[in-house]
Amino acid sequence: MLEKSEQARSPMPRRQSKVTQMFESDAIENLSQETRSFAPSQSFSLDANAQPELYGRAKADPLAFWADQAKQLHWFEPFTTTLDWSNAPFARWFADGKLNVAYNCLDRHVQAGNGSRVALYFEGEPGDEQVYTYEALTVAVKKTTNALLALGVGQGDRVALYMPQIPEAIISMLAVARIGAIHSVVFGGFSADALASRIQDAHAKLVITADGGYRKGKATPLKPAVDEALKGDNCPSVEKVLVVQRTGGDIDWTENRDLWWHDAMSAASDEHEARGFDAENPLFILYTSGTTGKPKGILHTSGGYLTQAAYTHRNVFDLKPESDVYWCTADVGWITGHSYVAYGPLANGATQVIYEGTPDAPHPGRWWEIIQKYGVTQLYTAPTAIRSFMKLGRAIPDQFDLSSLRLLGSVGEPINPEAWMWYREVIGGNRCPIVDTWWQTETGAIMISPLPGVTHTKPGSAQVPMPGVSAEVVDDNGQPVPNNHGGYLTITTPWPSMLRGIWGDPERFVDTYWSRFEGQYFAGDGAKKDADGDIWLLGRVDDVMNVSGHRLSTTEIESALVSHHWVAEAAVVGAKDEITGQAVVAFVILRQDELGDAPEDAEISQALRAHVAKEIGPIAKPQQILVVSDLPKTRSGKIMRRLLRDVAEDRPIGDATTLADSSVMGAIGAKLAGGATD
Ligand code: WTA
Repeated sequence: MLEKSEQARSPMPRRQSKVTQMFESDAIENLSQETRSFAPSQSFSLDANAQPELYGRAKADPLAFWADQAKQLHWFEPFTTTLDWSNAPFARWFADGKLNVAYNCLDRHVQAGNGSRVALYFEGEPGDEQVYTYEALTVAVKKTTNALLALGVGQGDRVALYMPQIPEAIISMLAVARIGAIHSVVFGGFSADALASRIQDAHAKLVITADGGYRKGKATPLKPAVDEALKGDNCPSVEKVLVVQRTGGDIDWTENRDLWWHDAMSAASDEHEARGFDAENPLFILYTSGTTGKPKGILHTSGGYLTQAAYTHRNVFDLKPESDVYWCTADVGWITGHSYVAYGPLANGATQVIYEGTPDAPHPGRWWEIIQKYGVTQLYTAPTAIRSFMKLGRAIPDQFDLSSLRLLGSVGEPINPEAWMWYREVIGGNRCPIVDTWWQTETGAIMISPLPGVTHTKPGSAQVPMPGVSAEVVDDNGQPVPNNHGGYLTITTPWPSMLRGIWGDPERFVDTYWSRFEGQYFAGDGAKKDADGDIWLLGRVDDVMNVSGHRLSTTEIESALVSHHWVAEAAVVGAKDEITGQAVVAFVILRQDELGDAPEDAEISQALRAHVAKEIGPIAKPQQILVVSDLPKTRSGKIMRRLLRDVAEDRPIGDATTLADSSVMGAIGAKLAGGATD
């Protein structure tokens, strides 16, 4: 009763309105009208790793199903319990078993007689190549393990990686895992400040980096950012810095701290026997943006994580290790690079391509050239990349032989049906199933995706939870919505690769994910169920933006802006963008007393963009900065980002009746006409 009368007073409850509002956007209209569906080809289905009965088996006994998946790994000591959920939401999977993650990715393949199979085809941006067989990769990881042990790295120690996409990045991750230590990979595009705060949060003992890497046709230095992050006594936990020589560029050197990778390796033995660690031994921390200014260190452990990474990789990408050449374009600095470049593929004994550079260097057909050169069979990439290729036109991919491809994957943000169709027709030649995979840094592995050869795919929909995973779309009260309705995406039962917490902040873990809906994991995404009950992702419902598939927090960028002495207040929103999905738009109020000789808006915009790049990294740079004299706020002082998004997306401004000062939006609208754009 109470609820009803409350609704009567306020026809649009706050939370409901966010989701409803999303349904009203053009994109969602298009999605609702999407009715195409593609049946799997018979030849694919017959030979597919995933068969329809997988769903039935998982449903009949989910824990037995997961235990079966875990048993496909090598265990030094077998587990006897599958899940301990007694201390929910802190899960323990396979907790009394012992395994070694690196051994599972390397030694066991060599022992099975597959040492001469290629593990990595590395393609550098300038066109240099390296090939690692499983045998060679195992030797390299053993040497690195010994080098790290000699530097005093032991079980549980944190090692920060700040590297280009080169084999040494994967080798380092595996060597850290082999010791039972914990890696924290920081994306090479992040700034020195962002690197420092991540090193400090995790108390990393060692940093592994490179002099630089090749991107966009030139050598881009990395080591200077490490020097800057560690300068003075900024990161007292760091004892040593191991440096891979990639570009040969000039770098500063700190005696007694810095050490060349090649020197450390030449001194290291290539003998190392792996031992088992507890399944719940931490494997890595990966920082991701949340709704506050402080990134969260998402913690993953070993047995459950590797189980689900390998299971999903095998079934979603239909991996046939003897014949496939798989390529995931993600950088190891992101979760996709962890689960579907490093751990999933290597656990499955896959042959894969890794590419250092950008898609357009030295020419816009670079990716298609790589597919042709290596005979790539599965391509896994992000919608933003597909859209930018689509914009350049099909003439470029049409110049290359893409006939080796047999499956295409998408991840990171909703893929619009138009891009999905282009991907299918132009890249996949209408013969490759597309898997639109929904998951998160927190989920560790794919959660919602079609199964190739089984699911009739629909352009723009991630469709169905993986066998073993239970997802729901719920209303404000946590109740499942009926088909043809939208709401919030939740996961209703624990899964093996779930995050085990936020590094050093158990309370934030519970608050962020488990307090919105009793007993359910709240992912932060809006979603809709169609007439068949298939799931369509609608984007974030919180203050997290998704720019080119990368998560950025509005609050984090706002605090970066406010840390500039010119800025009194800032509000950041994600505005729809044709290529990147969303673009960062910032509204700032300036401190007149600090400005000096009244600079032009363009000059201010340039300075503030550079400042954000320095504080967080170039990916967080606002595309547009608008200098305003006031921001729209509710009477309680909360910035109404919804209205700013209307302005940024050039829409009529929505309901502004709760504004404390109703003239503010008029003033901002007038200002927009003369706004400074990049
Ligand atoms: C979004 C990336 C729609 C979503 C693996 C999620 C998606 C966030 C999809 C996680 C998809 C990821 N369709 N949206 N297939 N995949 N997302 O942690 O908003 O970088 O919450 O993990 O990306 O981003 P993260």
